[in-house]
Amino acid sequence: VARALIVHIKNTSAFRFFSFAISKYFFDCLLHFDNAHVILFPSKSQVFFYRGHFRANCTNRPYLADLQRERQAHPMNIALLGFGTVGKAFYELTLGRSDLRVTSVLSRRPRPELPCTVTNDFDEIVRDRSVGIVVEVMGGLEPAYRYICAAMRAGKHVVTANKQLVCAHYDELLELARECGVSLRCTAAAGGGIPWLTSLSRAARLDEITAVGGILNGTTNYMLSAMTASGVDYTTCLREAQALGYAEADPTADVEGYDARRKLVLSANLAFGASVREEEILCFGISSVEEKDFTAWRELGRVCKLFVRAERHEGRISAFVCPTLFPAASPVAQTNGTGNLVTLRGARFGELSFSGAGAGGYPTGSSVLSDCVDVIEGCPSFYVSRHEAKHIDNSAAAGRFYLRTGSETVCTGPITVAEAFARAEPARSCGEPVFLARIEEE
Ligand code: HSE
Repeated sequence: VARALIVHIKNTSAFRFFSFAISKYFFDCLLHFDNAHVILFPSKSQVFFYRGHFRANCTNRPYLADLQRERQAHPMNIALLGFGTVGKAFYELTLGRSDLRVTSVLSRRPRPELPCTVTNDFDEIVRDRSVGIVVEVMGGLEPAYRYICAAMRAGKHVVTANKQLVCAHYDELLELARECGVSLRCTAAAGGGIPWLTSLSRAARLDEITAVGGILNGTTNYMLSAMTASGVDYTTCLREAQALGYAEADPTADVEGYDARRKLVLSANLAFGASVREEEILCFGISSVEEKDFTAWRELGRVCKLFVRAERHEGRISAFVCPTLFPAASPVAQTNGTGNLVTLRGARFGELSFSGAGAGGYPTGSSVLSDCVDVIEGCPSFYVSRHEAKHIDNSAAAGRFYLRTGSETVCTGPITVAEAFARAEPARSCGEPVFLARIEEE
C-alpha cells in the first residue's frame, strides 16, 4: 500500500484548476485511505493534507477557505482509552467541536449514557480505519503500553497523559512513532493543565536549556499547603486529595515523589535532548513528614515544597527530587493547592516560569485536547527530533539540608546532594523516622 503520494504542480494556474476542478473528488477519495499523506507544492503555496486534515500556508485565499470547509466537513475521529477523571473531562471538552470528536470509548463496563461506540475490545478500535487518534488516559504500564504500540503500528496518532509509560519506554516509543510516521504527544503527562512540555520544547529550539525545576506534583502540593496553613494531619490530607481525584490510584507514586520524578525525566529529556533513567534520579518524598517539621520551618521563615530539579553543566546532567524549603515570601512558597510552578533556564534568554493547575480533570483534559488539536494541525511527531542516552551525575549539585533522624534535627552546611541522601539512607532503609529537605538559598 502506498504510504505517500507527492503531487508536484509547477504552475499556479494549473494549481487553481487542480484545486477547484478536481480537488473535492480527489480529497474525498483520499479520506478513505489510512495514512494518506499528500503534500502539494504549487509555486506560491504550500498545502499539507494529512489524514483528511489540512494545514495551509497559502497565498490563495479562496483555496484556503476551501480547505477550512473541507476540514470542518471531516472531523478527526478519536478513540478514548479510559473514562476516569481525565477521560470524562476530555470527552466533555470535545463536545460541540467541529474539528474532532470521540467516536469510541474503551471501557470495561457498558456506558449507555454515551452516544458513541463503547467497547471493551481494543482490537475493534485498532481495526477501525476511521479512527485517527488514540487518546490513552488509562494510566499504568499494561495494557496501556500494548495498546499504544498497536495503535501506532496501525497508523494512528497517539496522545497520552501516562508519564509512567512514556518514561519507562521513552526511546522505544519515540522510535516507533518515527517508524510509523505518526505523532506521539504527552503534554498532559507533566504539569496538568500547563503547556509545560510544549513550551519547553519550543524554548529548546531557540537556546541551550541549562536547568529545569519546579513543583510538578499537585497532590503533594495540595497536602503540604494544607498542612502548612492549618496544621491538618498527613493522613487526613491524603484522603482529601484522593477524594478530590488528584492523587494517582496508588498514592505511593505521589507521596514518595515517583510521579514528580517521572515528570522530571520527561522535562530533562526534552530540555537537554537526552534520555535519562528514572531509577538513577535520587528521590525523597513527603510520606515521613511530621507536624514538628512544620513548626521548625515556620520558625525558620520557610515553606516546604516537593521540588524537582535538573541541570546541565559541561555535558553532565544532575537531577533529583527532594522536599525543599523556600523563603515564605517567594513565588514557589506561595504556589498553593494543586498549583504547579515550573521554570526553565535558557543560557541566553534567562528564566521563564509557568504556573497553573497541575492536576484535576479539566486542566489535564485540556492539555490532552490541545495535543489532539496539535496533531490535527500537523505538529511534528514528537517534541524533540534527537536524543542521547545520559547518566545522572549529581557530584556537582550541592546545598544545605534540613535532616531529621530519630529525635535529632540538624541543618547541615553545604554538602553534595548525594551526601545528603546518603546521610538519610540508613534510617530510611530501616524504616526509622527520617526527613530530608534541601534549604533553598535566598
Ligand atoms: N497525581 C498527579 C498529581 C496527577 O497530583 O500531580 C497529575 O499528573
